[in-house]
Amino acid sequence: MEHLNENTIRSHIDTSKIHQPMFFHLLDTVDSTNRFLKDLPFRNGATICCAETQTHGRGRFGRKWHSPPYENIYFSVRLGVEGPLSHFSGLSLVTSLAILETLNELGLNDHFKIKWPNDILWYQTNSNDPKKLSGCLIELITNPNQPAELIIGIGLNVNSQTDKHPLPDKSWCSLLDITGMTHNRNLIIGKLINHLFHHINQLSLNGFQSFSEQWQRADGLKGQAITLTAPNGIIHGLASGVTQSGQLILIDGDCKTHFVSSGEYTLA
Ligand code: BTN
Repeated sequence: MEHLNENTIRSHIDTSKIHQPMFFHLLDTVDSTNRFLKDLPFRNGATICCAETQTHGRGRFGRKWHSPPYENIYFSVRLGVEGPLSHFSGLSLVTSLAILETLNELGLNDHFKIKWPNDILWYQTNSNDPKKLSGCLIELITNPNQPAELIIGIGLNVNSQTDKHPLPDKSWCSLLDITGMTHNRNLIIGKLINHLFHHINQLSLNGFQSFSEQWQRADGLKGQAITLTAPNGIIHGLASGVTQSGQLILIDGDCKTHFVSSGEYTLA
């Protein structure tokens, strides 16, 4: 199986569209690629960290991200925020859309949906148990006298044989499961960078509303009954799309509309 390689990744990056300097840290092992980037000093440009394995890969809500060696993509990028921070409220959703575009470019379409805000799920034909292929974890760095920065961490299951390693807390899947073939991680990382940077640029210039149609096609939660744990209590409601800034619209049994920025929920 191929190892991570900076030259191969760079050979797939579209330098006619991405002009900012990019610095790579490709590591054999690290606790978490997000954590690694967070501890680096400020630098202009984009700093990227990928690892062959993570000993403490992190998911949202303090969950663990399963990171077996040499099989999958554990990718993080750190970059400065350009424009108002409020433009970035839809960043998880837009990152998920960039992952979907990457899958499309690899010739994989139709079978994926996004479960707001950031789970990429695979809907296998004749199965009503969608499986998680990818997720992202966004963190914000603010330091006095420095521009705000974002860390976008993406886990994408590529070459794991997931049926041999079932996870206790979720159904997961990989591109190998879906296609029956192994995939080149360096190529996927290069293409992911292209789509991610293009999407972030669009988000900073035109806001989340410019992704509205794309989101509607990808929305895997719309129309589903959910139970959300919000800071002020539990809400049962029907997921009804997202606002122009990417908040989830939830309509409860009394027809009251709630706008949700984050929170854990379960499907009812
Ligand atoms: C989630 O779905 O809960 C988010 C998962 C994010 C996992 C990625 S793997 C690369 C980066 N480093 C981490 O520790 N987490 C993210």
